[in-house]
Amino acid sequence: MSYQAHFKVWRGDKDGGRLVDFEVAVNEGEVVLDIIHRLQATAAPDLAVRWNCKAGKCGSCSAEVNGRPRLMCMTRMSVFDQAETITVTPMRTFPVVRDLVTDVSYNYAKAREVPSFVPPAELGPGQYRMQQEDVGRVQEFRKCIECFLCQNTCHVVRDHEENKTAFAGPRFLMRVAELDMHPLDAAAEAGVDRRKGAREDHGLGYCNITKCCTEVCPEHIKITDNALIPLKERVVDRSYDPLVWLGSKIRRR
Ligand code: SF4
Ligand code: F3S
Ligand code: FES
Repeated sequence: MSYQAHFKVWRGDKDGGRLVDFEVAVNEGEVVLDIIHRLQATAAPDLAVRWNCKAGKCGSCSAEVNGRPRLMCMTRMSVFDQAETITVTPMRTFPVVRDLVTDVSYNYAKAREVPSFVPPAELGPGQYRMQQEDVGRVQEFRKCIECFLCQNTCHVVRDHEENKTAFAGPRFLMRVAELDMHPLDAAAEAGVDRRKGAREDHGLGYCNITKCCTEVCPEHIKITDNALIPLKERVVDRSYDPLVWLGSKIRRR
């Protein structure tokens, strides 16, 4: 059953913009991205939006729907009352390029700051062995589709632009945690101290465990409980108990 919905869509660029009203048809089973596409096909052909897969897997269509960070392709119109005005705005934490498209290069810069996995020197291809428990832990983090909704939501940068230089954000602190928990990562032998890096380079101390990042993750990754809190614990263990660090190195052998 079709109906007419009332949308407000933010239109503008880096110099400013405004919410523009639209009346638009909605059909059964549609998602917010379908409506944005219908606007492009009718009343607003130059409306800018980034998307790719329309299946919740590419992480491109992140925006804020009624103020809530969401993937537009995974937000069903049926979750809204038909009489409700639906407001779609770009992610607030990143600079606007145009309309619903933001410049997410902050995230790529932060990704580059995390030293990559260091393969163990004593093992060759095909010789890597890991406990299933370790595999499972890392697998959860690798479900990330890099939609950056968690980065957009975390108040440390959402409300404080000045923190961006010092804070990697939940997605990349999770990456540090993933590597630090990896039993085969030989970063320490290569002179890379991931825990020191978490604290001094990636701003782990800025995170005060509000869990807003976890709430918006479309992959339902328990970012705070499974990555950030354990990483904080590991940093503390390392700082105050060198035996813990030594023990973890011995266990790897
Ligand atoms: Fe998106 Fe979740 Fe990855 Fe954050 S952790 S970028 S919210 S998929
Ligand atoms: Fe931010 Fe998530 Fe920590 S929202 S404060 S990174 S728990
Ligand atoms: Fe790929 Fe929405 S279009 S996640």
